[in-house]
Amino acid sequence: MKTVITIAQLRAEVQGWRSEGERIAFVPTMGNLHAGHFRLVQEAKKAADRVVVSIFVNPTQFGEGEDFGSYPRTIEKDSSGLIEMGADLLFLPAVEEMYPGGRELVTFIEVPGVSEMLCGECRPGHFRGVATVVCKLFNMVGPDLALFGEKDFQQLAVIRKMVKELNIPIEIQGVPTVREKNGLALSSRNGYLSVNEREQASLLSRCLSDAKEAILAGKLSIEVIETAQIERLKEAGFKPEYFSVVRCSDLKRANSDDMELVILAAAQFGVPRLIDNLSFNR
Ligand code: PAF
Repeated sequence: MKTVITIAQLRAEVQGWRSEGERIAFVPTMGNLHAGHFRLVQEAKKAADRVVVSIFVNPTQFGEGEDFGSYPRTIEKDSSGLIEMGADLLFLPAVEEMYPGGRELVTFIEVPGVSEMLCGECRPGHFRGVATVVCKLFNMVGPDLALFGEKDFQQLAVIRKMVKELNIPIEIQGVPTVREKNGLALSSRNGYLSVNEREQASLLSRCLSDAKEAILAGKLSIEVIETAQIERLKEAGFKPEYFSVVRCSDLKRANSDDMELVILAAAQFGVPRLIDNLSFNR
């Protein structure tokens, strides 16, 4: 695996493969890679001849007081993991390479609707930063296909909408969440939890499955089910931000005739803010 740090080097590498007619997959990440990211690389390898991975902790998607400065940066370990997984190219740009004009002069991509609720409400500007950096990376790499984890369900919805509405010719593939044995969704921020806390944090995924069962049983209203799970999380020491049953298509409140649903949840537990989701048909 080759590592490049400039856009020019990245384009030269990709251009070489393109001229051979090779299909290129792209996995954007912020590093501190875990089995969830490696699953993305594995799926990328199945779908393309070449796999490009980026590691860039993107400042524009972090809000005031969030963990941009302390976000875990583990480049050497990440790089060996990617070599083992058979990635072809690692793009490792500095902030100045990605945002040469500084943060104030950035042209942003806004994706209205799906960006505004849930995490968008709790983290204003977050999805604007995500859409902008992903669009920039897409323009730099120019892949046929890009892969994203379904754990960030709302992020995936934002990116799908951006690609569709800006006519970006890249196929977007969602990849199922990888979980610990106890159900906890893997996340780079789980590193902020002790072993004991990781066990307790797995309650979030159980709340999602229990809410799904309750919805399918059809005896209680969605509001009652959401409130019960929020209370359960609070009693266990979580600080829930939302626990919402919405429709998969546009993340708006589910009506009784909506069949494709997703339950999305976010809660602070100790240091990290955890997110998880469960989609299903009724
Ligand atoms: O999901 C992430 O790790 C980031 O939001 C992404 C997509 C790499 C953009 O910085």
